[in-house]
Amino acid sequence: MHFFTYKGNELYAEDVPVRTLAERYGTPLYIYSYSTVLRHFRAYDEAFASYPHIICYALKANTNGALLRLLAKSGSGADIVSGGELFRALKAGIPPEKIVYAGVGKTEAEIMTALKNRVLMFNVESEDELREIDRVAGRMKVKAPIALRINPDINAQTHPYISTGMKEHKFGISIGSALQNYGLAARLKNIEVVGLQKHIGSQITKISPYVEAMEKILLLLDTLRSRKFRIRYLDIGGGLGISYKDEKPPVPADLARKLLPLINGRKLTLIMEPGRSIVGNAGILITRALYLKKGAGKEFVIVDAGMNDLMRPSLYDAYHHIQPVIMNKRAAVTADVVGPICESGDFLAKKRRMPKVNRGEYLAVMSAGAYGMSMSSTYNSRPQAAEVMVKGSTHSLIRKRGTLDDLVRDEVIPGFLK
Ligand code: LLP
Repeated sequence: MHFFTYKGNELYAEDVPVRTLAERYGTPLYIYSYSTVLRHFRAYDEAFASYPHIICYALKANTNGALLRLLAKSGSGADIVSGGELFRALKAGIPPEKIVYAGVGKTEAEIMTALKNRVLMFNVESEDELREIDRVAGRMKVKAPIALRINPDINAQTHPYISTGMKEHKFGISIGSALQNYGLAARLKNIEVVGLQKHIGSQITKISPYVEAMEKILLLLDTLRSRKFRIRYLDIGGGLGISYKDEKPPVPADLARKLLPLINGRKLTLIMEPGRSIVGNAGILITRALYLKKGAGKEFVIVDAGMNDLMRPSLYDAYHHIQPVIMNKRAAVTADVVGPICESGDFLAKKRRMPKVNRGEYLAVMSAGAYGMSMSSTYNSRPQAAEVMVKGSTHSLIRKRGTLDDLVRDEVIPGFLK
């Protein structure tokens, strides 16, 4: 559910015509709906209201500070994977006691900063990392709270690039060696075991992988507790899918209905790390049709947003719905919607049946709020898109469009070239 709807034939972001925003701020333009983000966050919070829980929004989906501030004010925690994301989360006002820190490659400096800021826990992904956190914590004379990220060997039934919970993946500690690693954690003097974490993938559209993974993880949890480990936090990761095309993914209430009975009376705080399901359908990318070109059996619609702005179609062959901002009656055509970048992989849609586009008109690329701007780059020396947030009938720029100066700001010409 989101608040990008047509009123008459004109697309609105909440109560603001999208065309007004495109004219005012230019394109390519990311537009986010305040009410949609809030609604999605609350859907989690309300679904799990009967059980102690923390919703740790996965920053990687979208790190815009205004969006983070909105989530922080709503009571969200954060799932982070880098010192940069820690910096952003704290800056937005997310309390450190609601921050969980994942990632297979945490550096010494990042571990130090996280310890200094007293994050809730490190989700540890290897034995080497566990020893490193122990060493750094020892030097700082603190105890590091940790959970082990357990790879439950479950097929999340999603795109191979975003499936993470099978034994061939680089993530987490295999469930077979979990006890041995928890044993090691207990022996390390500067480590305090507080939790257990799993995350099996992203854009998951079925509930069964969650149930299967939960059953496996709870067996492990019970064994650990019988061995006197004080596991207080059970972190089930993120991954809930959204509807890009015609998927019907479970909603947080479905998750709660299936998972809470499995937890059945165990005393824990449940942690979730949703990213996409909070911001994915809360954002759209507006682009302008620059040129039209006849190809073999199809048309090319050349637009001013490229793979540098939205990488998902190129990288995962992901489907994003594309529709005219002003939807008047017209014929349907088959078209490739392509960007200005010098690669054949630069497309937003391929062989898409869609309304015939007019040169110069605005198009909305839907469901672009997650892994859109956060994965964007300046490839081909294209300054990054601007971002706007709409709340009711008000709108505000939340990130300025990149400039030409931004492209070269951090470059240094060495003395021998001067
Ligand atoms: N927790 C962990 C440990 C993760 O690795 C991820 C996502 C999440 C939570 C949030 O997952 P979500 O609820 O957003 O599915 N760039 C890809 C998605 C990569 C997901 C990486 N990890 C895409 O555009 O589809």
